[in-house]
Amino acid sequence: MRFLRTGWSRHGAATGPMAEAIENSTSHMTDADLNAIAVYLKEQAAPPEPAAGSALAQNDPRMMAGKATYQAVCVGCHGWDGAGQGLVFPPLARVSVVQQGSAESLVRVVLAGARAAQTKDAPTASAMPSFAWRLDDRQVADVLTYIRNSWGNPAAPVTPETVGAIRGRLRSGS
Ligand code: HEC
Repeated sequence: MRFLRTGWSRHGAATGPMAEAIENSTSHMTDADLNAIAVYLKEQAAPPEPAAGSALAQNDPRMMAGKATYQAVCVGCHGWDGAGQGLVFPPLARVSVVQQGSAESLVRVVLAGARAAQTKDAPTASAMPSFAWRLDDRQVADVLTYIRNSWGNPAAPVTPETVGAIRGRLRSGS
């Protein structure tokens, strides 16, 4: 319910069409309406996906490089333990967005940045800056591999080739 009210949940922040839906409609609904929607969504929800296995070892070279980038660039907002900060910066630890099978949306967030939904209860939408100018494909891949395999997250590593392909698509505007 907090997600529909503020645009935030422990699964992450709403962006894109979901952010618009929350800005335009659900943040104006009553608690009773939101509760009914939440109950409905819970009933519809698919069973959780099985855990993707175990996390990469902390001494994997990609993890070590990713950790260095994380601590240099991301830690100020998302925290040493990936816990984020209240309603301002979303957590990265144990959130489904970070562990999802395809890392495409994560690569896009890091390369292009993102703005959280603006709502009555969280009126100052915080923003994630774009890092396309600052991090090369391998740095983006490694930092995402790091956050996908830290703090209880286990998920497939991200390759520099994947990041390069998405960077190319962003440049050509798709
Ligand atoms: C200046 C603060 C700031 C910095 C630095 C920053 N972020 Fe973010 N990040 C945010 C905010 C704010 C959001 C939420 C944006 C939104 O809701 O669209 C976010 C969203 C994200 C998300 C999506 C999470 C979700 O729940 O949807 C990921 C993944 C992420 N950041 C990773 C990183 C990584 C990796 C770095 C370092 C390369 C980084 N961030 C650096 C502020 C920051």
